[in-house]
Amino acid sequence: MNDRLVIFDTTLRDGEQSPGASMTKDEKVRIATALERMRVDVIEAGFPIASPGDFEAVQAVAEVVRDSTVCGLARALDKDIDRAGEALRPAASARIHTFIATSPIHMEKKLRMSPDQVVEQAVKAVQRARRYTDNVEFSPEDAGRSELDFLCRIIEAVIDAGASTINIPDTVGYNVPDQFGALIEQLIQRIPNADKAIFSVHCHNDLGLAVANSLAAVLRGARQVECTINGLGERAGNAALEEVVMAVKTRRDVFPCDTGIDTTQIVPTSRLVSSITGFAVQPNKAIVGANAFAHESGIHQDGVLKSRETYEIMSAEDVGWSANRMVLGKHSGRNAFRSRMQELGIEFDSEEALNAAFASFKLLADKKHEIYDEDLIALVTDASLEAENERIKLVSLKVCSETGETPQAQVTLRIEDSECSATASGSGPVDAAFRAIEDLVRSGTELQLYSVNAITSGTDAQGEVTVRLEKGGRIVNGQGADTDIVIASAKAYINALNKIVKPEQRAHPQLGDV
Ligand code: KIV
Ligand code: ZN
Repeated sequence: MNDRLVIFDTTLRDGEQSPGASMTKDEKVRIATALERMRVDVIEAGFPIASPGDFEAVQAVAEVVRDSTVCGLARALDKDIDRAGEALRPAASARIHTFIATSPIHMEKKLRMSPDQVVEQAVKAVQRARRYTDNVEFSPEDAGRSELDFLCRIIEAVIDAGASTINIPDTVGYNVPDQFGALIEQLIQRIPNADKAIFSVHCHNDLGLAVANSLAAVLRGARQVECTINGLGERAGNAALEEVVMAVKTRRDVFPCDTGIDTTQIVPTSRLVSSITGFAVQPNKAIVGANAFAHESGIHQDGVLKSRETYEIMSAEDVGWSANRMVLGKHSGRNAFRSRMQELGIEFDSEEALNAAFASFKLLADKKHEIYDEDLIALVTDASLEAENERIKLVSLKVCSETGETPQAQVTLRIEDSECSATASGSGPVDAAFRAIEDLVRSGTELQLYSVNAITSGTDAQGEVTVRLEKGGRIVNGQGADTDIVIASAKAYINALNKIVKPEQRAHPQLGDV
């Protein structure tokens, strides 16, 4: 029997620390639901003390998720731990993750604390966290640049205080695989009570080594890996969940452990995270990149046709690349629609919600004859985005685009309770539509990113648009989907505008006290 490798996903916390990747409460719940469906063991939902919005998001995830453990981050401070404990109260299974820096440079320059004070605060933090849950994780921040003797001392003390997971972060992505693996092995060998905790790793990708370092640690005894979907995260990101999971699964001959992940959920979850954050996945990205299973050279194509294993070490289906299967069409009935949605893990709260989704499906099927799983997911996402748009709603959009003429757009919006219209011209129909919306809203935001993705293949495919807006240092992303990409763009722009109206101050876990 192989050991279990615990998969701890921090897309909603460290992933959200990527500039521009901030997520709303509803978006976090959507991603958490996808992670739960993927059977992630632990979902780090956020840093509750950071802002009221972060607190509410962790609480909302704790209310919804039943099968995965929900975790909240807290510095080794009473107020952080109490806030995390409170946010996690509704969770079926809760973990508090508390941390304090242990490298000489962090203790001296950032914390201005002596090593003795750091040990004392870490122990107190773990004891306080144990008042809320017996599932407490401790991280010595910047462990990758900390002294081995000091790490052994503080870890032994926090295990005695009740920490059951010890996470070793390479906070600045400085380590290399052999040395990092050796560090994990030495800690496990030297700490007398090491057998009372699971050793975990949390690697950043500054040298492009996050996955390699994590896997080296697994070979030397780590049994939890902290990772994010698409490798999102602070600076160069964290270890990519999909790469860690598929390496362990594909090389069972090398790794003495298995994960509990349903790998067929990897690609849909990657797409969801990419569309919510607006962080596109590079085409040659392992596992989830568009070209990850594409064979261009004739020799490779010939080999794969004769026997897939000649050039493929994993199957595309195994990680969730559906072959764009046509699932439903214009003549499909309500029951077929409901049962396919159930298979995709989408449940409706009421008959009305099902009827509304079915009506949108019929409208889509009129425009697009073949409806794929991706279309169904986009349909539901689009409905929840509409519901999120509390202040500004799109009523109608008309664009005129003609060779040799300047494109024009006429937009009607409902802003709070009144309807208003504007017409504008632009360099293209999307530009004209955005200008008309801006004439009505006057948001003063700056467009930072505009990206369009075809959800499926073919010219009748739905376009999925992400728009990133910035105002006064605050960055938000908006999404929209439609078979008409100008309409999808307007929806995405309006979705982002709805989010930017409520500015929020957030603290950052790596920056001192709040
Ligand atoms: O990178 C890091 O050190 C962290 C800790 C909070 C675990 O994200
Ligand atoms: Zn981190």
